[in-house]
Amino acid sequence: MSESKVPSLQDVVAGTWGARYRIETEASLRFGALARRLDAFGAPRALSELAERASRDETRHAAHCERFFRAAGGQQLTGVDHVVEYAPASWAEPQRLTYEVVAQSCLAETQSTASLVTLLEGAESQELKAVLHELARDEVHHSRLGWAYLAWARPRVDFSFLGPLLPGMVAGSAGPEIFKPAPEGADHPDLLRQGVVPHSLRRQVYVETLESVVFPGFESLGVDAAAARSWLGKTLSDARLIPG
Ligand SMILES: [Fe+2]
Ligand SMILES: [Fe+2]
Repeated sequence: MSESKVPSLQDVVAGTWGARYRIETEASLRFGALARRLDAFGAPRALSELAERASRDETRHAAHCERFFRAAGGQQLTGVDHVVEYAPASWAEPQRLTYEVVAQSCLAETQSTASLVTLLEGAESQELKAVLHELARDEVHHSRLGWAYLAWARPRVDFSFLGPLLPGMVAGSAGPEIFKPAPEGADHPDLLRQGVVPHSLRRQVYVETLESVVFPGFESLGVDAAAARSWLGKTLSDARLIPG
């Protein structure tokens, strides 16, 4: 595609399923590593089993994403075949593991669940509806792993290091483009019918999920979300996205 050409709806749809394929393949590896580390850390077997199951789920999700990518005319698909841990290797394992679980489960999977639920109603085909339903059902469990881990780890791990890091983690999981104006073609309402959340709605769901699920979830489990709350307020105000 030349640079000046506006991407078609199908380009945006294929691009989204292709990006999801990468995310699912990466998530499968991350959960596989988390399962081993949770066991090694002495976490309850129920938590490592959730992570093992999540790793298998993500492989199945990737296959669905590939199917929709091809159906939308996508050609070049690339998966992720190895992952670099989010946390610095210099930290002690309790902090590293906690950071990893929070980034993957409490942030990424909670947001993914919210997006999928948003998509369920608008999906145009039964096949898409069924897949979105399957994905949403699984992602709920993947996010639950994070919240259950925090509840278990609370008396064992000092969470005070997390609060100041949350703004960077939240920003990183959203991607910088979410607070920018919609790229060409990315805000079309018809995208919803094909399993893609239009840009502005995606941002709205993202912010609402932070405010109604993620931040209160952290606070109820002893993780200070004050810095993340003020980061969000400032980001929305800088982007002139706070309703007047
Ligand atoms: Fe997934
Ligand atoms: Fe997931």
